[in-house]
This record gives sequence, C-alpha cells and structure tokens, in this order.
Amino acid sequence: MEENSKESFYITTPIYYVNDVPHIGHAYTTIIADAISRFKKLADCDVFFLTGTDEHGQKVEKAATEKGLTPLELADKVVVNFKKLWEALHISYDYFIRTTQPLHEKGVQKIFQKLMDKGDIYKGVYEGWYCISDETFLSDDVPLEEEGCKICPDCGKKAHVVSEDCYFFKLSAYQKSLLDFYQKNPTFVRPQSRMNEVVSFVSQGLKDLSITRTTVKWGISLPRDPSHTIYVWFDALHNYLTGIGYDWEPKHFRQFWPANVHLIGKDILRHHAVFWPAFLMAAEFALPKIVFAHGWWLRDETKMSKSKGNVLDPWAILETFGPDPLRYFLLREIPVGLDGNFSHEGFIHRVNSDLANDLGNLVQRLLVMIHNYFGGQINNMGEEKDSDRRLHLEFDLLKEKVGQHYEEYALNRALEEIWAYINSVNKYLAENEPWKLAKDNARRGRLGRILYQAACALRGIIPLIFPVMPESSQKIWKFLGEKAPLQEENFFGLEFFHFKSDQKTQKPAPLFPRVNLKDFLKEEESQEIIPSKEETMDVITFDEFKRMDFKVGEIMKAEQVEGTEKLVKMEVNIGTETRQMVAGIADKYSPEELVGKKVIVIVNLKPAVIRGVESRGMLLAAEVGGQAILPIFTEDVPAGAKVR
Ligand code: MSP
Repeated sequence: MEENSKESFYITTPIYYVNDVPHIGHAYTTIIADAISRFKKLADCDVFFLTGTDEHGQKVEKAATEKGLTPLELADKVVVNFKKLWEALHISYDYFIRTTQPLHEKGVQKIFQKLMDKGDIYKGVYEGWYCISDETFLSDDVPLEEEGCKICPDCGKKAHVVSEDCYFFKLSAYQKSLLDFYQKNPTFVRPQSRMNEVVSFVSQGLKDLSITRTTVKWGISLPRDPSHTIYVWFDALHNYLTGIGYDWEPKHFRQFWPANVHLIGKDILRHHAVFWPAFLMAAEFALPKIVFAHGWWLRDETKMSKSKGNVLDPWAILETFGPDPLRYFLLREIPVGLDGNFSHEGFIHRVNSDLANDLGNLVQRLLVMIHNYFGGQINNMGEEKDSDRRLHLEFDLLKEKVGQHYEEYALNRALEEIWAYINSVNKYLAENEPWKLAKDNARRGRLGRILYQAACALRGIIPLIFPVMPESSQKIWKFLGEKAPLQEENFFGLEFFHFKSDQKTQKPAPLFPRVNLKDFLKEEESQEIIPSKEETMDVITFDEFKRMDFKVGEIMKAEQVEGTEKLVKMEVNIGTETRQMVAGIADKYSPEELVGKKVIVIVNLKPAVIRGVESRGMLLAAEVGGQAILPIFTEDVPAGAKVR
C-alpha cells in the first residue's frame, strides 16, 4: 500500500479575527505551528497545517461599520495583510480557511442541524452580560461594578445585557463525558497546569451554551430559522473540520481528522478544551489529541492586544532583519507555555550573540578556510584522532535530544541544545587552530581532517535548525555545496559523515546583520507602537492644541525608500520652505500619484530618522485596515495655509 504509508499529522492555529492588524502575538502562534510542521515533514510525516481567519460576528461587524466598509470588504482587506505577513515570515501553511467561504458555512449549518435533530440543541431565551469586544458572555461570578454594569475581566471594556430568543447547546449534559475523557487523556491539554485549570472549571458544573443570536446579522444563518445567526465561536471552531475537507473532500478529511494538535493562546483555552470537545462528542467526531496553550507576549507586562494599544508591528523588525531572527527569538526566548516580555534590547542581544556571533561566525570562518586552503574542496582527510570523534559522538546524541524536544513542543530546549553544539564546534576549531596548521605544508592532511570534521558537524546542524530558520538554513545548505533540497533530508536518518570529501563548498555571504540597538531604536521611534484610538484620546487643553502647527503641504517629489515596503521619501512645500518628510504610505500610493497632492502636515514636530532617512514633519493620515489614507484637499488651497 504505497499511498499514505506515511504517518499523518494535522496541526492548526486559531483563526484570527479580521478586525485586528496582525501583530507579533498572532505571528507567535503561527511560527510555532510552522516550526512543528516543518519538523514533522522532515521526520517523514504527511503533514497538514491549517490557519485562517475568523470573519463573522459582532466585533467584525462593528469594526467594519466604523471604517465605512461592509464586513466582507473589511475581511477581504485584512486577509491580505495576514497572508502578506505569513509570506514574509516564511509560513508554509497547507490551507488558509476563511469562515465566509461557502464550504465552511455549509459544513457548520450541517453540523448544527445534526445536533438539532439529535436533541443536543434546543430553543429558549437567554439573558446575560455580553462582551462585544471578546464575543463572549461573562460568567456569573463577574461582579457588578458601581454603576450597575459588568466589566469584561479579559479586555476591561463594559459588557452589555443581552436578552433574546436563542438556541442552546446542552453543554451541561457533557460534564461527565468531558471529565471521563480528561481522566483517560491526562495530557489532552498542555502544559499540565492548564489541564488542571480545565478540569477544575468543568468539575464545578457546566451551563448550557447559547449558540445563536438574533441581534447579530453578520454570521451564518440557520437554514430553518433565518432570523438567527450562529454564535461566532460555534462557527469558528468548526473550521478545524471544514478546513480539511469535512463535507467537501471526505477522503482528505478522513486522513487528517482528528487533529494531532490545536495550538492556541491561553486566552482561548476554555473554548478549545471544553466547548470544542463537547461539540465534537455531540456530533460524534473523534476528539483532537492535544490542545497546546502557549503563553502571551507582553509589552510592559501587559498582553499585547489591539484594544490595549500596545501591539508590536512585526514589519518594522522584518524590514531590518528578515524572518529568521524574529522566528528564532520568539521560539528561543521562552518555553511555549509561559509568558514573555518583548524588549528590543533582548531581541538585538540574542540576534547579535546567537546568530551573528555563534552561528554566523562558524559558517563564515569555516567556509572561508575551506575556500582559502582547499579551493572549496577538502580533498585530504588525514588521520582521525580521538579528539575529532567528539563532534561525531555529540552529534548523534544531539539529533535524538533535539528530535525529542521538537516532538514535545519544547522548542526553546531544542534550540538551546543546538546552540550548545554550535559552541562546541567553535571550540573545536579554536582548540585545533587550523589557521596555524595552514602555515605548515607538512600538516595539510591534519588541516583537512579538522575542517572536514567541522564541516560534517555544520552540515548536520542545518536540518536541525531548518524548522525554525528555513531561510538561513537553506542559504547555508547551498554554501555547503549541497545539491538536493534540504526538505528532502530525513531528520532521524541524519548521519554525521554525510559531508562528502569531494563536495565543493562556496564562499559564504554574510547571513545575519549585526545591528546596534541605538540605531535600531532611532529608526523604530515613529513606527513601532500602533496606538489604539482609545488610548490616544487623552484630553488636551486648547493651549496645547495651539502649540501644534498644522499646514497645507504640497508634495513636490516622491520616491520609495530603498529596501522598505511602505516608506516614501518626499519633498514637501510648506509655503515658507520645502522639507524632506518620510511616511509609511507606499502600500496605498505610488510615488507618481503623490506628486502634486496637497495634504495636511504637522510642521513643528521634532525631526526623526526613519530607516536612516530624516523626516522633518509628518503627514496626517487616517488608519484604515492597516493602511494610511491621506486627507487630500479638493478645493484649491495654497501650500503653507494654516490648518486649524
Ligand atoms: N478568532 C478567535 C480564535 C478562533 S479559533 C477557532 C481569536 N482570534 S484572535 O485574533 O483574537 O487571535 C487569538 C490568538 O492570537 C491567541 O489565541 C493567540 O494564539 C494569538 N495571540 C494574540 N495576542 C497574543 C499575544 N500578545 N501573545 C501571544 N499570542 C497571542 O481569538
């Protein structure tokens, strides 16, 4: 049986809401999933990696109205942002599901009807406190605040009382089955502390769940009662079935369900570890094997989220460093289950020390020596000494340990082990001083042996780091003179003496930029934090307002800043003079269409250097779906006219 003789492995990320700009938090989950999926492919599994977007519900409806768009128009725009980011981060997902796709909507309606027919869904009236921002009913134990309102404990926003006819899912009937299931599968939720949380929550009793709305129009409607739309969480969770072919590609569906792992943030644990298995039990599907809840990336000790206005834009980092340093940092810095505080100092320190120094230097000096002393080919292996065998023995142990860490989602441990080995190879070179041997022709055999051992070690390291750093490992693979694609290596079949003595290596190009923190922060200054509207609404006095000097500026020249995706450098005439300004608008406007436009600029803002280009003033723009839209005068106004 040739077909599907490989083990199947199905991994998912949450599907992201389209009311948000993709940020480092979203990128984190997706990068973990990508690294695991790449590892599993190297370990010879037939992998399916699903990600996508959650597009229905009140939150998206509200965000779209605020932006003057229909919900689908908003979703179409934001999906592009997510896909662009995943491409830039080298995320190799197998399918991107959108909950507005008919194949998903039909599947959800079908399962809903099945549960109705079985009696697991019934009609009633619901009254409760509902948080629009989180699309969730608050639990009864959230206390009333002074003005008689409840505040959402997750996002801190005011909740509203909702009372409406709705359909309920009989969650209460599944308490015992869930507890039995957890008992039989004690590692269903990881890490263990989260499993305990879930068991304790379910042990306290479960209430039936209201799963339709009549007040929300933007959702999947009930075919037999179209005044109701399906609650966004019931809708969204089923993407894990519809995304692999439920009701449209049954063979594929059978191959991959149940999922091996749902990767999620700890904020959505209950939905995945309580509601989801209950829905699946009711509809008689097998249950996923693992729900892995990772921690949060924090800024200033609070969770990064759009509503808090403290999100970190991955693009700023990607433009300077490319994808691998960010992937490496996020996976190396914290164990998957814990929270981490993102700081630029921490990031740059890691990149400079682990990537530029340890790995970068190893590649650089080893391949330069092979090139200089042997023209890229080590043709004299010389005698092998005991000390040379160390790298070989360490590698065999390393491969097993790293494989095991990847299997257990202990990505930081895998990287720690690999870096200890990289340092061991660096130490081997330092101890054997090949640069000294090179001066003595009689010791050429020994020189060849040392470089050969180190080259075998480096070749062995590359497939181990590939899941985390696909771009750099592929480059190093080529420098090593490997012809076959790296993806074709077999993780557990890797052997130390794979480096052929007639293999021709190349002189390497630099891999990781060494960046100075001060320079980076200066460039970041005006871009890094995307402030939320709410956070920026501090009241100012009229005097403070008067201090801001807004003027009409005419764009005289415009050109894209080299090496950036979004930045445009402009000469702007502000009446009294022409100034250079930089703005992140190239994704919306071409330089040609900007020339001649009259816009609003603040002229007394402290100059800033952005990507090495000075900006003396700033253009005002509306932020819509992650893009900056310029207010452009339709009347003929002179450059330099004051704007109040
Ligand atoms: N749409 C729901 C999920 C439905 S899944 C069937 C949702 N979407 S979300 O856009 O809010 O994304 C939530 C996920 O993004 C979190 O569970 C987590 O995986 C990731 N993160 C968002 N902010 C994060 C941090 N600050 N840190 C780490 N990950 C976080 O909830």
